[in-house]
Amino acid sequence: MAIEAENRSEIEPEHVAATDANEPEAMIEVRDLTHYYGPMPAVENVNFTVQRGEILGFLGPNGAGKTTTMRILTGFMPPTRGTVTLGGYDVVEKSLEVRKRVGYLPESVPLHTEMTVTSYLKYMGTLRGMRGRRVKSRIDDVIDVCRLEDYSKTLIGKLSKGFRQRVGIAQAILHEPEVLVLDEPTIGIDPIQVVETRSLIQELGQEQTVVLSSHILPEVSMICERVLIIHEGHIVAADTPNNLAQHLRGVAQLEVEVGGPPAEVLPMLRGIEGATEVTHHPRPGVNAYRVKFREGLDLRDEISRSVVSNGWSLLSMQMSGMSLEEIFLRVTTSEDDTE
Ligand SMILES: Nc1ncnc2c1ncn2[C@@H]1O[C@H](COP(=O)(O)OP(=O)(O)OP(=O)(O)O)[C@@H](O)[C@H]1O
Ligand SMILES: [Mg+2]
Repeated sequence: MAIEAENRSEIEPEHVAATDANEPEAMIEVRDLTHYYGPMPAVENVNFTVQRGEILGFLGPNGAGKTTTMRILTGFMPPTRGTVTLGGYDVVEKSLEVRKRVGYLPESVPLHTEMTVTSYLKYMGTLRGMRGRRVKSRIDDVIDVCRLEDYSKTLIGKLSKGFRQRVGIAQAILHEPEVLVLDEPTIGIDPIQVVETRSLIQELGQEQTVVLSSHILPEVSMICERVLIIHEGHIVAADTPNNLAQHLRGVAQLEVEVGGPPAEVLPMLRGIEGATEVTHHPRPGVNAYRVKFREGLDLRDEISRSVVSNGWSLLSMQMSGMSLEEIFLRVTTSEDDTE
């Protein structure tokens, strides 16, 4: 990270701890993090580490504790219990140091609607102790990176939701933080802007450590190197999107289309050894069946021989894994959930 001479004084004295030979490998360390707003914990005994340069996704349904965790990581709210360090600094004891190193896009961006984009960014830069040429050149940079060129003189109150979100990202990266914490960065914006925002985050993630939250599975699996699934204040799974899909799968399934009377095909498929669940999915002109079985088995040979020996035709047969959506539901749906 380039720090111009005029700004050294604000950053240098305390920075020693994070730049010496013992520089921590991990950028963020969360230990036994617990937070109560009332009698029930919003997050409880949460532990995880974010490596320098990593893009980590928090995935969880509404109320899971994503925003709570992010507000604590960024030093905006102290936890009830547990510790968090960012770049080696404790987020409670050294919250100013932490805020210098972190750019935060909160869930609802508190933008000043009566300011223009440029004047707002200037104001945010000043709040963070940036001055003179540096703030000016950084504003030019972030306006460019966030593709806000045509709106630099527009009042924020007149911007669409997607462009406000870009201004939110612009203010988060203004002071060249080492860590970016983005709370639902693509929520409420149109599909084209979603695509652009995702690629912007990936670009930023090449240089910085990024933690983002989402409840959209394909989004985290597309952007993130590692995913934490958080549910009711607990981390219920943590892995790469691919490993998560494989590890949690456990069950394999085949989609089979058979030309034959369903009343006979269905019992035949159910009789195949290893099939745990067979369902019939009639579609116009074709009878499809879904055959679930334990992972590691392969029922294709057996099924095709049985179909042919009955004189029916095998129109298609395809292996299909469980989608991340299904895994997400499986991991986050408890038995007493009714929906
Ligand atoms: N300021 C607050 N006061 C009281 N309870 C709160 C407050 N903020 C959050 N909570 C509660 O804490 C729990 C976790 O909320 P949090 O906002 O962290 O979830 P989230 O995962 O960000 O959800 P969402 O996807 O809806 O943004 C919820 O039960 C919520 O009702
Ligand atoms: Mg939230």
